Amino acid sequence: MRSVSSSTSQIPESDIVPQHVAIIMDGNGRWAEERFMPRIAGHQRGVETVRTAIKACIERGVNYLTLFAFSSENWRRPAEEISFLMQLFITVLEQEVIKLNENGIRFKVIGDLSKFEPKINKIIRNGEAMTAANNRLTLTIAANYGGRWDIMQATRKMLAQHPKLVSNFGEEDLAQYFAMSYAPEPDLFIRTGGEQRISNFLLWHLAYTELYFTDTLWPDFSASTLDLAIKSYQQRERRFGRTSEQLKASKRINEVKKVPSKKKA
Ligand code: IPE
Ligand code: IPE
Ligand code: MG
Repeated sequence: MRSVSSSTSQIPESDIVPQHVAIIMDGNGRWAEERFMPRIAGHQRGVETVRTAIKACIERGVNYLTLFAFSSENWRRPAEEISFLMQLFITVLEQEVIKLNENGIRFKVIGDLSKFEPKINKIIRNGEAMTAANNRLTLTIAANYGGRWDIMQATRKMLAQHPKLVSNFGEEDLAQYFAMSYAPEPDLFIRTGGEQRISNFLLWHLAYTELYFTDTLWPDFSASTLDLAIKSYQQRERRFGRTSEQLKASKRINEVKKVPSKKKA
């Protein structure tokens, strides 16, 4: 596995399956409204799609899947919808964590959990502990997450632990304190539902991520939608500020290194 460091400082391997896929699962409400159903029916259906996405990612060799489930701005929704989403979150956690564990999935949650009721916090902590040693896929759920919150909390935590850094700290110092410091930066970002915005998701981490937007509503997302996104990703040239020529030269060097030496007779 590649070491956890800023992908912006490395030339990544191209033509491969993205190691880390991050998704904004949008469009549940519209999916339901199109069917004259209440919005919450779309959220329920969206949970099934999460299972599909996890399975498809494992089959394709993705190591990290990060899903935006509830943003720090989603508290602005009608109280009824929020309370349904919280209940759904509890139900899904209670039912699924054991299954995730059986499937070798490491489960993590990022976000400001202080806003959630103690019951949710307890299930999350237990789930994370139970699955900590799994390595088939790391599934991260972003709940009450905001990219700005993450940058603020990381800075506060770093300065509380190392007050002297206040006058001089670097990206690497701060990076250790982000909620998702255990994962490499996402290679591929997908947003379903047609909107082309980041909506305060992983602001720091998406600096050089390849972005893919699709009109497909989240409940309709399938393995073939994922394949289209991965195909698009594989056609990109990730330059990280370098020139195309530099990348081609480094690829040639790597190919020479990969040629096995001939066996002596
Ligand atoms: C995304 O779907 C799920 C959450 C934000 C919880 P939406 O509920 O935003 O669906 P649309 O965008 O209204 O269709
Ligand atoms: C983003 O979706 C958050 C999640 C999918 C959890 P929203 O539907 O809340 O995004 P905006 O507000 O339309 O940008
Ligand atoms: Mg939406």
